[in-house]
Amino acid sequence: MSVAVVTGGGSGIGRATCARLLAEGFTLAVLDMNGDAASAAAGPGGTARALDVADAPAVAQAFTEIVAELGRIDVLVNNAGISGSPAATVCHETPVEDWDRVLATNTRGPFLCSRAALPVMLAQGSGHVITVASVAGEVAFPGRCAYTASKGAALMFAKSLALDYAHAGIRSNAVCPGFVRTPMTQWRLDIPELAAQVEANIPIGRIAEPDDVADAISVLASGRMGYMTGHALVVDGGWTAR
Ligand SMILES: NC(=O)c1ccc[n+]([C@@H]2O[C@H](COP(=O)([O-])OP(=O)(O)OC[C@H]3O[C@@H](n4cnc5c(N)ncnc54)[C@H](O)[C@@H]3O)[C@@H](O)[C@H]2O)c1
Repeated sequence: MSVAVVTGGGSGIGRATCARLLAEGFTLAVLDMNGDAASAAAGPGGTARALDVADAPAVAQAFTEIVAELGRIDVLVNNAGISGSPAATVCHETPVEDWDRVLATNTRGPFLCSRAALPVMLAQGSGHVITVASVAGEVAFPGRCAYTASKGAALMFAKSLALDYAHAGIRSNAVCPGFVRTPMTQWRLDIPELAAQVEANIPIGRIAEPDDVADAISVLASGRMGYMTGHALVVDGGWTAR
Protein backbone atom coordinates (compact mmCIF):
# COMPACT_ATOMS: atom_id res chain seq x y z
CA MET A 1 0.00 0.00 0.00
CA SER A 2 1.26 3.50 -0.88
CA VAL A 3 0.12 6.37 1.32
CA ALA A 4 -0.12 10.00 0.25
CA VAL A 5 -0.85 12.92 2.55
CA VAL A 6 -2.50 15.80 0.70
CA THR A 7 -2.94 19.19 2.37
CA GLY A 8 -5.72 21.45 1.14
CA GLY A 9 -7.28 18.37 -0.45
CA GLY A 10 -10.81 19.66 0.04
CA SER A 11 -10.95 21.98 -2.96
CA GLY A 12 -9.51 22.93 -6.34
CA ILE A 13 -6.11 21.48 -7.22
CA GLY A 14 -5.94 19.47 -3.99
CA ARG A 15 -9.33 17.89 -4.59
CA ALA A 16 -8.42 16.93 -8.17
CA THR A 17 -5.10 15.55 -6.92
CA CYS A 18 -6.88 13.37 -4.36
CA ALA A 19 -9.15 11.95 -7.08
CA ARG A 20 -6.18 11.23 -9.34
CA LEU A 21 -4.09 9.62 -6.58
CA LEU A 22 -7.05 7.50 -5.46
CA ALA A 23 -7.52 6.28 -9.04
CA GLU A 24 -3.85 5.33 -9.09
CA GLY A 25 -4.19 3.20 -5.97
CA PHE A 26 -2.92 5.48 -3.21
CA THR A 27 -4.46 5.45 0.23
CA LEU A 28 -5.00 9.05 1.27
CA ALA A 29 -4.75 11.21 4.35
CA VAL A 30 -6.35 14.56 3.60
CA LEU A 31 -5.73 17.62 5.76
CA ASP A 32 -7.80 20.75 5.24
CA MET A 33 -9.34 23.60 7.23
CA ASN A 34 -12.64 22.27 5.91
CA GLY A 35 -13.03 18.87 7.57
CA ASP A 36 -16.14 17.83 5.63
CA ALA A 37 -14.46 18.56 2.31
CA ALA A 38 -11.33 16.69 3.46
CA SER A 39 -13.42 13.63 4.44
CA ALA A 40 -15.21 13.69 1.09
CA ALA A 41 -11.86 13.66 -0.72
CA ALA A 42 -10.20 10.93 1.35
CA GLY A 43 -11.88 7.99 -0.37
CA PRO A 44 -12.15 4.37 0.77
CA GLY A 45 -9.63 3.37 3.43
CA GLY A 46 -8.43 6.95 3.75
CA THR A 47 -8.47 9.34 6.65
CA ALA A 48 -9.05 13.07 7.04
CA ARG A 49 -8.41 15.82 9.58
CA ALA A 50 -9.72 19.36 9.89
CA LEU A 51 -6.70 21.50 10.70
CA ASP A 52 -4.74 24.62 9.91
CA VAL A 53 -1.40 23.63 8.34
CA ALA A 54 0.21 26.58 10.17
CA ASP A 55 -0.78 25.19 13.59
CA ALA A 56 2.33 23.35 14.80
CA PRO A 57 0.80 21.17 17.56
CA ALA A 58 -2.20 20.22 15.37
CA VAL A 59 0.08 19.23 12.46
CA ALA A 60 2.38 17.17 14.69
CA GLN A 61 -0.58 15.35 16.22
CA ALA A 62 -2.23 14.69 12.85
CA PHE A 63 0.93 13.11 11.39
CA THR A 64 1.38 10.93 14.48
CA GLU A 65 -2.21 9.72 14.08
CA ILE A 66 -1.85 9.18 10.32
CA VAL A 67 1.22 6.98 10.78
CA ALA A 68 -0.51 5.05 13.58
CA GLU A 69 -3.50 4.50 11.30
CA LEU A 70 -1.94 3.99 7.84
CA GLY A 71 1.57 2.83 8.78
CA ARG A 72 3.68 4.90 6.36
CA ILE A 73 3.93 8.07 4.26
CA ASP A 74 5.21 7.66 0.70
CA VAL A 75 4.19 11.04 -0.65
CA LEU A 76 3.43 14.38 0.97
CA VAL A 77 1.67 16.92 -1.25
CA ASN A 78 2.08 20.38 0.32
CA ASN A 79 -0.82 21.97 -1.52
CA ALA A 80 -2.83 24.05 0.98
CA GLY A 81 -2.43 27.69 0.12
CA ILE A 82 -4.14 31.05 0.04
CA SER A 83 -3.61 34.22 -1.97
CA GLY A 84 -4.71 36.70 0.70
CA SER A 85 -7.66 39.03 0.86
CA PRO A 86 -8.38 41.49 -1.96
CA ALA A 87 -6.55 44.09 0.20
CA ALA A 88 -3.26 42.13 -0.07
CA THR A 89 -1.90 44.02 -3.08
CA VAL A 90 1.25 46.12 -3.38
CA CYS A 91 3.59 46.24 -0.40
CA HIS A 92 2.59 49.51 1.27
CA GLU A 93 -1.11 48.68 1.08
CA THR A 94 -0.90 45.07 2.25
CA PRO A 95 -2.38 44.65 5.72
CA VAL A 96 0.17 43.09 8.10
CA GLU A 97 -2.37 40.39 9.02
CA ASP A 98 -2.64 39.40 5.35
CA TRP A 99 1.14 39.13 5.03
CA ASP A 100 1.33 36.97 8.17
CA ARG A 101 -1.55 34.72 7.16
CA VAL A 102 -0.33 34.19 3.56
CA LEU A 103 3.23 33.46 4.67
CA ALA A 104 2.02 31.18 7.48
CA THR A 105 -0.18 29.10 5.18
CA ASN A 106 2.08 28.99 2.14
CA THR A 107 5.52 28.62 3.78
CA ARG A 108 5.13 27.69 7.46
CA GLY A 109 2.54 25.08 6.41
CA PRO A 110 4.85 23.17 4.03
CA PHE A 111 7.64 23.47 6.62
CA LEU A 112 5.53 22.04 9.46
CA CYS A 113 4.05 19.22 7.36
CA SER A 114 7.44 18.27 5.89
CA ARG A 115 9.03 18.45 9.34
CA ALA A 116 6.42 15.96 10.57
CA ALA A 117 6.61 13.64 7.53
CA LEU A 118 10.40 13.49 7.05
CA PRO A 119 11.23 11.38 10.12
CA VAL A 120 8.76 8.78 8.83
CA MET A 121 10.33 8.89 5.35
CA LEU A 122 13.84 8.69 6.86
CA ALA A 123 12.85 5.55 8.77
CA GLN A 124 11.42 4.07 5.54
CA GLY A 125 14.47 5.09 3.48
CA SER A 126 12.15 6.56 0.85
CA GLY A 127 9.62 9.31 0.26
CA HIS A 128 8.70 12.22 -1.95
CA VAL A 129 7.68 15.72 -0.88
CA ILE A 130 5.79 17.56 -3.61
CA THR A 131 5.16 21.24 -2.90
CA VAL A 132 2.61 23.17 -4.91
CA ALA A 133 4.31 26.53 -5.35
CA SER A 134 3.33 28.74 -8.30
CA VAL A 135 4.84 30.48 -11.28
CA ALA A 136 4.64 33.43 -8.83
CA GLY A 137 7.62 31.76 -7.17
CA GLU A 138 9.64 32.32 -10.33
CA VAL A 139 8.25 35.55 -11.80
CA ALA A 140 6.62 38.21 -9.61
CA PHE A 141 2.87 38.69 -9.88
CA PRO A 142 2.06 42.40 -10.04
CA GLY A 143 0.07 43.64 -7.04
CA ARG A 144 0.38 40.40 -5.03
CA CYS A 145 3.50 40.95 -2.96
CA ALA A 146 2.71 38.60 -0.05
CA TYR A 147 1.68 35.75 -2.37
CA THR A 148 4.72 36.21 -4.61
CA ALA A 149 7.10 36.26 -1.62
CA SER A 150 5.44 33.20 -0.09
CA LYS A 151 5.69 31.14 -3.29
CA GLY A 152 9.31 32.12 -3.86
CA ALA A 153 10.02 30.87 -0.34
CA ALA A 154 8.01 27.67 -0.89
CA LEU A 155 9.94 26.94 -4.08
CA MET A 156 13.33 27.40 -2.43
CA PHE A 157 12.14 25.38 0.56
CA ALA A 158 11.36 22.50 -1.82
CA LYS A 159 14.84 22.80 -3.33
CA SER A 160 16.50 22.85 0.09
CA LEU A 161 14.73 19.60 1.03
CA ALA A 162 16.03 18.04 -2.21
CA LEU A 163 19.62 18.78 -1.20
CA ASP A 164 19.29 17.76 2.42
CA TYR A 165 17.47 14.43 1.97
CA ALA A 166 18.63 12.99 -1.37
CA HIS A 167 21.18 10.85 0.48
CA ALA A 168 18.31 9.20 2.36
CA GLY A 169 16.31 8.22 -0.73
CA ILE A 170 13.87 11.09 -0.28
CA ARG A 171 13.06 13.41 -3.18
CA SER A 172 11.52 16.87 -3.16
CA ASN A 173 10.04 18.65 -6.14
CA ALA A 174 7.81 21.66 -6.67
CA VAL A 175 4.92 22.07 -9.08
CA CYS A 176 4.40 25.62 -10.34
CA PRO A 177 0.93 26.12 -11.80
CA GLY A 178 0.04 29.19 -13.81
CA PHE A 179 -3.60 30.31 -13.70
CA VAL A 180 -6.01 27.55 -12.66
CA ARG A 181 -9.80 27.65 -12.48
CA THR A 182 -10.49 27.00 -8.75
CA PRO A 183 -12.41 28.70 -5.95
CA MET A 184 -9.19 30.69 -5.27
CA THR A 185 -9.34 32.39 -8.66
CA GLN A 186 -13.07 32.24 -9.44
CA TRP A 187 -13.74 35.83 -8.31
CA ARG A 188 -11.37 37.04 -11.02
CA LEU A 189 -12.70 34.72 -13.71
CA ASP A 190 -16.24 35.91 -12.96
CA ILE A 191 -15.23 39.33 -14.35
CA PRO A 192 -15.25 38.72 -18.14
CA GLU A 193 -12.64 41.43 -18.93
CA LEU A 194 -10.24 40.02 -16.33
CA ALA A 195 -10.77 36.45 -17.54
CA ALA A 196 -10.11 37.54 -21.13
CA GLN A 197 -6.96 39.39 -20.03
CA VAL A 198 -5.64 36.29 -18.27
CA GLU A 199 -6.45 34.02 -21.20
CA ALA A 200 -4.79 36.38 -23.68
CA ASN A 201 -1.49 35.83 -21.82
CA ILE A 202 -1.63 32.03 -22.01
CA PRO A 203 -0.13 30.64 -25.24
CA ILE A 204 -2.17 27.41 -24.99
CA GLY A 205 -5.22 29.70 -25.04
CA ARG A 206 -7.14 28.50 -22.03
CA ILE A 207 -7.02 28.73 -18.27
CA ALA A 208 -5.88 25.48 -16.63
CA GLU A 209 -8.35 23.11 -15.00
CA PRO A 210 -7.41 21.54 -11.64
CA ASP A 211 -6.91 18.20 -13.45
CA ASP A 212 -4.11 19.74 -15.54
CA VAL A 213 -2.12 20.29 -12.34
CA ALA A 214 -3.25 17.03 -10.72
CA ASP A 215 -1.77 15.28 -13.78
CA ALA A 216 1.66 16.74 -13.06
CA ILE A 217 1.44 15.97 -9.34
CA SER A 218 0.33 12.39 -9.96
CA VAL A 219 3.14 11.72 -12.45
CA LEU A 220 5.63 12.92 -9.82
CA ALA A 221 3.89 10.89 -7.11
CA SER A 222 3.98 7.75 -9.25
CA GLY A 223 7.74 7.44 -8.81
CA ARG A 224 8.30 7.78 -12.55
CA MET A 225 10.94 10.42 -13.30
CA GLY A 226 12.74 9.03 -10.26
CA TYR A 227 16.00 10.85 -11.01
CA MET A 228 14.26 14.23 -10.69
CA THR A 229 14.69 16.11 -7.44
CA GLY A 230 14.93 19.80 -6.62
CA HIS A 231 12.96 20.60 -9.75
CA ALA A 232 10.28 23.24 -10.35
CA LEU A 233 7.78 21.66 -12.74
CA VAL A 234 6.02 24.55 -14.48
CA VAL A 235 2.43 23.84 -15.60
CA ASP A 236 1.27 27.14 -17.03
CA GLY A 237 0.24 26.63 -20.66
CA GLY A 238 3.38 28.47 -21.73
CA TRP A 239 2.53 31.67 -19.80
CA THR A 240 6.07 32.23 -18.46
CA ALA A 241 7.89 30.79 -21.48
CA ARG A 242 8.36 34.16 -23.13
N1 LIG B 1 -5.59 28.47 -8.61
C1 LIG B 1 -4.47 28.94 -9.18
O1 LIG B 1 -4.51 29.65 -10.20
C2 LIG B 1 -3.14 28.58 -8.58
C3 LIG B 1 -2.00 28.92 -9.31
C4 LIG B 1 -0.74 28.61 -8.79
C5 LIG B 1 -0.65 27.98 -7.57
N2 LIG B 1 -1.76 27.66 -6.88
C6 LIG B 1 -1.59 27.00 -5.58
O2 LIG B 1 -2.26 25.77 -5.59
C7 LIG B 1 -2.66 25.44 -4.25
C8 LIG B 1 -4.13 25.09 -4.23
O3 LIG B 1 -4.86 26.23 -4.66
P1 LIG B 1 -6.36 26.16 -5.24
O4 LIG B 1 -6.41 27.13 -6.33
O5 LIG B 1 -6.74 24.75 -5.46
O6 LIG B 1 -7.15 26.80 -4.01
P2 LIG B 1 -8.56 26.45 -3.33
O7 LIG B 1 -8.90 27.69 -2.57
O8 LIG B 1 -9.52 25.89 -4.30
O9 LIG B 1 -8.19 25.27 -2.33
C9 LIG B 1 -7.33 25.48 -1.25
C10 LIG B 1 -7.68 24.47 -0.16
O10 LIG B 1 -6.72 24.66 0.90
C11 LIG B 1 -7.43 24.73 2.13
N3 LIG B 1 -6.66 25.58 3.03
C12 LIG B 1 -6.43 26.91 2.90
N4 LIG B 1 -5.70 27.33 3.95
C13 LIG B 1 -5.46 26.25 4.72
C14 LIG B 1 -4.76 26.05 5.93
N5 LIG B 1 -4.15 27.06 6.57
N6 LIG B 1 -4.72 24.80 6.45
C15 LIG B 1 -5.33 23.77 5.83
N7 LIG B 1 -6.01 23.90 4.69
C16 LIG B 1 -6.07 25.13 4.15
C17 LIG B 1 -8.78 25.33 1.80
O11 LIG B 1 -9.74 25.00 2.79
C18 LIG B 1 -9.07 24.69 0.44
O12 LIG B 1 -9.73 23.44 0.59
C19 LIG B 1 -2.30 26.67 -3.40
O13 LIG B 1 -1.06 26.46 -2.76
C20 LIG B 1 -2.19 27.78 -4.42
O14 LIG B 1 -1.36 28.82 -4.00
C21 LIG B 1 -3.01 27.95 -7.36
